[in-house]
Amino acid sequence: MSEAVVYINGEYLPQSQAKVSVLDRGFLFGDGVYEVIPVFSGKPLRLNKHLERLQRSMNRVSLKNPLPQERWEEIFQVLLESNPGGDRSIYLQVTRGAAPVRDLSFVADIEPTVFVMVNDIKPVDYAKLENGIEAITVDDFRWKACDIKSVSLIANVMIRLRANEQNVTDAIMVRGGLVTEGTASNIFVVHKGIISTPPKSDCLLPGITRDLVMDLALANGLKIEERDIKQGELETADEIWLTSSTREIAPVVKLDGHVVGNGVAGEYWKKIIALYQGHKQELRNG
Ligand code: PDD
Repeated sequence: MSEAVVYINGEYLPQSQAKVSVLDRGFLFGDGVYEVIPVFSGKPLRLNKHLERLQRSMNRVSLKNPLPQERWEEIFQVLLESNPGGDRSIYLQVTRGAAPVRDLSFVADIEPTVFVMVNDIKPVDYAKLENGIEAITVDDFRWKACDIKSVSLIANVMIRLRANEQNVTDAIMVRGGLVTEGTASNIFVVHKGIISTPPKSDCLLPGITRDLVMDLALANGLKIEERDIKQGELETADEIWLTSSTREIAPVVKLDGHVVGNGVAGEYWKKIIALYQGHKQELRNG
């Protein structure tokens, strides 16, 4: 297999030759932001929304976007062509760059580091997805800026580790009695035919898949609402889903060792995943 080609600071290089400085603030402080954009049959899903969220993350951390939208799109195109394959995800990361010395204060004139790569998305095995995943609930001890898609993910790593140590796939985080999100996904809960997801705030990432699920539900007459979800509601939920660009919509069938709903993917999950698949197919054909 030939080596992946990546983009780093203006150059396209084999992955093993792409290097950043040890003084890079992304490396030293996690001082950077990122995006993950799924691409189906060469067509990025909701590209503009991802680039808008990137801009928003940059604004939140006072980082100037180093590239105009056309240039981002050109880089994605070159990388998709240089790394041919099936469905992919584009990973991009911008850090504040390498300063001459390690200092939390930064000078304005350092060049941001821009890194982009494409990875395979394993085709979703819908029969397997339907079996659902198991999760635990964990106290959300992250900071109050979870709306920034920051590369500082150590808290998410720690929380995911706790789940993996208990041999389950993921953790659902709870802050002050309210459900926030998964370690790398947003959450939906279904109660008596009403689908709910927590409102956007600094406690969770405004997921692009989350918004797509909301749009699809609304356009197809499903009852959906944004509202605070209390931890206790997880115990009585008929269905729980976790959504992300790479995971799509995963039903949680067991939580903290207890069966969710009937212990299998529910009827509303079946409806929403069909709508999601239809949307993906339209994108592929379009
Ligand atoms: N993560 N919440 C968190 C904390 C996330 O890291 C992600 C995505 C989401 C879902 O966002 P979206 O629907 O836009 O993918 C919610 C990506 C996939 C990752 O870090 O790899």
